[in-house]
Amino acid sequence: MLAIFVTAVLISPALLGPSSAMPDRSLEGAWKEWKGTHAKEYLEEEETFRRAVWEKNLQKIRRHNWEAAQGKHSFQLGMNHFGDLTDEEFNQMLNGFQPELVTEQPKGVALFRESAAVEPPKEIDWRAKGYVTPVKYQGHCGSCWAFSATGALEGLLFNKTGKLVPLSEQNLIDCSWRLGNHGCHGGYISQAFEYVRENGGIDSEHSYPYLAREGSGCHYNPQNRAMNCTSIVRVQEGSEAALEQAVATVGPVSLAVDAKSFLFHFYKSGIFASSWCTQFVNHAMLAVGYGTSQEGGTNTDYWILKNSWSEKWGEDGYMRLVKGRDNHCGVANQATYPTI
Ligand SMILES: *[C@@H]1O[C@H](CO)[C@@H](O)[C@H](O)[C@H]1NC(C)=O
Ligand SMILES: *[C@@H]1O[C@H](CO)[C@@H](O)[C@H](O)[C@H]1NC(C)=O
Repeated sequence: MLAIFVTAVLISPALLGPSSAMPDRSLEGAWKEWKGTHAKEYLEEEETFRRAVWEKNLQKIRRHNWEAAQGKHSFQLGMNHFGDLTDEEFNQMLNGFQPELVTEQPKGVALFRESAAVEPPKEIDWRAKGYVTPVKYQGHCGSCWAFSATGALEGLLFNKTGKLVPLSEQNLIDCSWRLGNHGCHGGYISQAFEYVRENGGIDSEHSYPYLAREGSGCHYNPQNRAMNCTSIVRVQEGSEAALEQAVATVGPVSLAVDAKSFLFHFYKSGIFASSWCTQFVNHAMLAVGYGTSQEGGTNTDYWILKNSWSEKWGEDGYMRLVKGRDNHCGVANQATYPTI
């Protein structure tokens, strides 16, 4: 049932050698400022390499934004705290979602199908209804799957109790290995829910804080249990219409997208749509709503996706991703949510 998708990303030896390009002296001030803002410190040998990577990223960001200003793109990029990483390093470090190849419906997992009887609202934003905790930061750990799962559980908890309580990703990272998850090296959203179901609970973030690394053993404490789940629902694969109905009627829904491109890493604002995006999903996020933008006289539908790359990324930590256009970036391929 579960096919493990292993991404062996190698850093090309050429990149590790001394940088051939001389630093651009006109960027000296901007480099210093960026290092200060993000508290970056390097050894001397490393600084030359990091500076070269940062400059290259900055040039690509500027070129994209110049093209966006000409109307060639519907979104802007921005330099952020990932500016000193190559795409390969970035993907190796942060995209930790293991896609599932599902041939049959797994036991104990229900299927949510599109229904002709449901007329979803034109737009919905669960953030405004109090279902969504502040944006978190996974750090240099491939634990997106755990953040996506806690996001959906937090929404469900709010629905049941009216209380918004951040839940523990570290609990999922440390304790769900047996179910096929790999800590900071990737995992399955559905197996995170399965852990909570089997375990009979998940601790609060407050009682079991995030370390951004694999902890030493499982420290789940039932006395700090903040939430349960009793079953798992998978949204009809590849159907944005079903996903829309699920988000409209259930609340925040966990899903995965293809986040491997440079454009995704440095997304800043606007509605993301890129010909580089494929259907092969590798990064877990949380759908917290959808809407329509009327900018420039055209209507563009979008999903509102919560990320775990801190508020410095995207629109205060969120992305608007084009909706209803060929299941863009595979957004509806692996959507799932817990129930109680
Ligand atoms: C929880 O969800 C149900 C069903 O969707 C809804 O009727 C109810 O109003 C929600 N409760 C809260 C507190 O939002
Ligand atoms: C979770 O489930 C257990 C066992 O069914 C129950 O005793 C407990 O009260 C539940 N906890 C929460 C927070 O829902």
